Amino acid sequence: MKASPCIRYSFALLLFLTCYSTTAQPPFEFDHPTANLSTSWSNTDQSLTVYDNSSDTSRVQAILTRRLFEGEFACGFYCDGNCTSSLFAVVIVSETRSPQMVWSANRDHPVSYGALLNLTARGELVLLDADGSTVWTTNTTGKTVAGLNLTDDGNLVLFDTNRQLVWQSFDYPTDCLVPRQALFQGQQLIPSVSSTNWTTQKDLFSLKMTDKGLVAYVGSNPPQAYYSSRSYDVYDNYTNTTGRRYVRFLNGSLSLFIHSVEPSDPDGVITIPQASSAQYMKLMPDGHLRVFQWKAGWSEVADLFTDDYLGECGYPMACGRYGICSGNQQCSCPVSSSPRIEYFKAQDDRQPALGCSEITPLTCNATQDQVFIELENVTYFNILVDMKSVDMDTCKRACMNNCSCKAAIFRYDFASSTTTSTPGDCFLPSEVFTMTNVDPLINATAFVKVQNASGPSNISSPSSHSSKSRPALLGILTSTIGSAMFLFGAIGFLVYIIRKRIRANDMAEEYIGEVPGMPTRFSYEELKATTENFNKKLGEGGFGAVYEGTLEDGSKIAVKCLEGLGQVEKSFLAEVESTGSIHHVNLVRLRGFCAWRSQRFLVYEFMSNGSLDRWIYHGNREHILDWECRKKIILNVAKGLAYLHDDCRQKIIHLDIKPQNILLDNDFNAKVSDFGLSKLIDRNQTQVMTTMRGTPGYLAPEWLSSIITEKVDVYSFGVVLLEMLCGRKNFDRSLPEESRHLLGVLQKCWEQGVLADMIDKYSEDMHTHGPEVVEMIKVASWCLQYDFTKRPSMSTVVKVLEDVTKVESSLDYNFIDPRQPKTTVEHENHKDMTPLLASVLSGPR
Ligand SMILES: *[C@@H]1O[C@H](CO)[C@@H](O)[C@H](O)[C@H]1NC(C)=O
Ligand SMILES: *[C@@H]1O[C@H](CO)[C@@H](O)[C@H](O)[C@H]1NC(C)=O
Ligand SMILES: *[C@@H]1O[C@H](CO)[C@@H](O)[C@H](O)[C@H]1NC(C)=O
Ligand SMILES: *[C@@H]1O[C@H](CO)[C@@H](O)[C@H](O)[C@H]1NC(C)=O
Ligand SMILES: *[C@@H]1O[C@H](CO)[C@@H](O)[C@H](O)[C@H]1NC(C)=O
Ligand SMILES: *[C@@H]1O[C@H](CO)[C@@H](O)[C@H](O)[C@H]1NC(C)=O
Ligand SMILES: *[C@@H]1O[C@H](CO)[C@@H](O)[C@H](O)[C@H]1NC(C)=O
Ligand SMILES: *[C@@H]1O[C@H](CO)[C@@H](O)[C@H](O)[C@H]1NC(C)=O
Ligand SMILES: *[C@@H]1O[C@H](CO)[C@@H](O)[C@H](O)[C@H]1NC(C)=O
Ligand SMILES: *[C@@H]1O[C@H](CO)[C@@H](O)[C@H](O)[C@H]1NC(C)=O
Ligand SMILES: *[C@@H]1O[C@H](CO)[C@@H](O)[C@H](O)[C@H]1NC(C)=O
Ligand SMILES: *[C@@H]1O[C@H](CO)[C@@H](O)[C@H](O)[C@H]1NC(C)=O
Repeated sequence: MKASPCIRYSFALLLFLTCYSTTAQPPFEFDHPTANLSTSWSNTDQSLTVYDNSSDTSRVQAILTRRLFEGEFACGFYCDGNCTSSLFAVVIVSETRSPQMVWSANRDHPVSYGALLNLTARGELVLLDADGSTVWTTNTTGKTVAGLNLTDDGNLVLFDTNRQLVWQSFDYPTDCLVPRQALFQGQQLIPSVSSTNWTTQKDLFSLKMTDKGLVAYVGSNPPQAYYSSRSYDVYDNYTNTTGRRYVRFLNGSLSLFIHSVEPSDPDGVITIPQASSAQYMKLMPDGHLRVFQWKAGWSEVADLFTDDYLGECGYPMACGRYGICSGNQQCSCPVSSSPRIEYFKAQDDRQPALGCSEITPLTCNATQDQVFIELENVTYFNILVDMKSVDMDTCKRACMNNCSCKAAIFRYDFASSTTTSTPGDCFLPSEVFTMTNVDPLINATAFVKVQNASGPSNISSPSSHSSKSRPALLGILTSTIGSAMFLFGAIGFLVYIIRKRIRANDMAEEYIGEVPGMPTRFSYEELKATTENFNKKLGEGGFGAVYEGTLEDGSKIAVKCLEGLGQVEKSFLAEVESTGSIHHVNLVRLRGFCAWRSQRFLVYEFMSNGSLDRWIYHGNREHILDWECRKKIILNVAKGLAYLHDDCRQKIIHLDIKPQNILLDNDFNAKVSDFGLSKLIDRNQTQVMTTMRGTPGYLAPEWLSSIITEKVDVYSFGVVLLEMLCGRKNFDRSLPEESRHLLGVLQKCWEQGVLADMIDKYSEDMHTHGPEVVEMIKVASWCLQYDFTKRPSMSTVVKVLEDVTKVESSLDYNFIDPRQPKTTVEHENHKDMTPLLASVLSGPR
């Protein structure tokens, strides 16, 4: 960048301007990036500090700047290209990087050269175009505004004479979030039209914080969800769900909070690589939510909505409207196989991803000429929310009878009982976005409504069709068998499908087959009866409640209700699949499930003493668990995990071990619950995951390097173990700064040789068993080894607990990243900072 003249004195009295200095000059102090009333700035003003870089066409004229973690926030006039118009914006700027706009006041109304920004004497911030017309205003006259401040979070704030906030740009998010910024219930991000046109996109993508969590939508009438934050059901009674929900961009996660009591654990997190430089998050014009960070250039470090299941095909515009996505960027248009009629044409034959359009548009005054074309094994990105447990004919009829319905997408119920009319879920979109055939596990059919023109003119001969051969749906493979070229192109995909299907069949056998002890399918009525109309709530998580019920035989059950949207469906399937066939005395047994309308229920055995977190932190002083009881719980959990890791047919990694997922029965026998996050992986294989999940505080450090083995569970187990021995949370804000992080305390106690100091101070019994407890702290330390290869396996832990073997003697006491002994806890002073462990805060970067 060109270093421009520093402070111009004409403005110096009114505001502190900062100027980026090159290394030759001493750095300027960015102390108070504020401005007083009766100040105005123009984009013609030569004295404003300019950030531009010849390698990039964008340019910022800074009004206020604030130093950031490497770089600065600036607010000012932003423009790109010819700069015939500009925006009033908040931008991340620095000497060597291209400016990145993270907020703007007037993205739909750029102002021309000669525009003026006034902070008026009446306390209003007004943007006037060159012709004097008001383009944007904060509407804050008469609110005793005293000045303007650009905070170190990048929030532009008007404050009053008491320094209280009057107006803030964070209340008007555009398409970006910056670290520490929250998106509150009712707020939304909307992307711009394209990367070069900042105008707000109309009626396509939006990301909203709703009472159901974070939901990404496409379309508008009604909108269709393509992402929804997954359920992290909390099996406890402490959750306060009346507070305003929000997600906050923290260092290392996008965390969902449903508690109004702060600080609180997030209810769910999407993990993001730790920031090693400035980051920001942006909802892209194509519906992706991406995180960018400065490395050599601004580069993407995470793509938060892409799941490893549907991949790119899970995005509603991956192949445009009416396109069919087959993975690997393959897009095709729907084709009717019998009779062979072309109803759709590609928008652009050379760019199949742009989607397809109807040759004869649907018209409501000629519904008698409408038919369906049937696309077997084709499904849709969202879960099917319109009608549940209907049969295919009902689904099709409902669409035919409704003129605004453009397709009937039908999916057979998962593991549906084999009655005469098989029920399924039905979705009737009023706009058809990208469909997909990448998911052979799902037995679905899409019926796309098309208009027959009167007369036979549209019927084309098979030969005219095959001459247009392009990578297409498997469905037409059989009929276009003559087209060798096509066959050649599709063969790879076919092999892929077949392989996946073989695996799918394997899995299907596991739970649909006549295996005794398999989960029962309950009807909704049955569940309603057993729970006395969902009357006795045991607890509530982000997406649904847990109710108590009693079966006819008198046994108690816990019914987890997952309200249906997006990924909840997947976690339901995953949970039924992975828990259904697993029986172990230390694993919570899945007794059954139920799919009814938009609702999914999982039926578990009842655990009368609830989750472990009720008992180990000193919220519960009346009943302090004694040493024998704690030992039993520890051994139970270790055995449950050892079983998952070593004794199942397929290794199961839990991925979310925490006290909330450890349940206790009447006699304080512990069982591990919630396999919703677990993934089946082959033995002796590590798996690279694209999305990371879990709970901060319990996440092993290698999550950052994406090599996930069962040792992540060993680590989380170590954290839980330590919490039980010390009777406190792994992060406790109520304690003095130096002892907030339990792992930091552990490290210090090792260094000073005073491990016994860590023992739960509320339990005399624990202290009388001091030496035993100290041994156990050593077990925890072994599990918490930074290098995952040094951690024991869970079966070794069981052996240690049963006194068959001994704790490794050469432990590394650096529980915090060895390469970064002094951890920077970036947002320590922030009120609702997630209780991250030091190990999580200091990634291997
Ligand atoms: C422009 O940015 C590039 C990095 O993107 C940097 O290498 C270069 O030095 C910058 N140029 C100027 C004139 O600052
Ligand atoms: C803003 O006003 C306050 C109070 O009148 C004064 O102390 C301060 O110097 C002013 N700041 C600037 C940048 O003019
Ligand atoms: C910038 O100006 C040049 C010449 O004046 C013109 O050819 C080009 O299209 C302009 N670009 C934009 C983005 O307006
Ligand atoms: C904006 O500021 C300029 C210069 O201070 C002043 O001439 C103009 O009247 C102001 N406009 C408004 C609408 O306050
Ligand atoms: C100010 O009020 C106008 C008219 O009521 C409204 O259109 C505009 O969005 C408001 N501006 C802000 C920043 O709230
Ligand atoms: C401006 O914001 C920063 C925090 O980002 C704060 O420390 C400072 O006191 C604020 N200044 C004024 C004048 O409110
Ligand atoms: C940006 O997109 C809007 C809405 O699609 C359009 O009206 C406008 O002309 C576009 N602007 C440019 C510069 O292409
Ligand atoms: C949950 O809380 C409610 C109200 O505070 C209480 O009545 C109920 O007994 C609690 N349930 C359990 C299982 O603790
Ligand atoms: C729950 O949240 C509401 C709203 O913030 C608050 O008024 C109430 O006191 C909270 N209840 C508990 C038990 O924390
Ligand atoms: C249906 O209505 C459109 C105009 O709304 C008209 O152009 C068209 O001819 C009508 N078609 C039939 C079959 O009536
Ligand atoms: C889908 O399920 C239905 C009903 O269970 C069954 O008849 C059909 O064969 C299944 N199709 C596939 C492709 O599995
Ligand atoms: C759909 O999948 C089933 C097996 O799952 C297969 O038998 C059938 O041929 C597929 N149909 C099409 C059109 O690909």
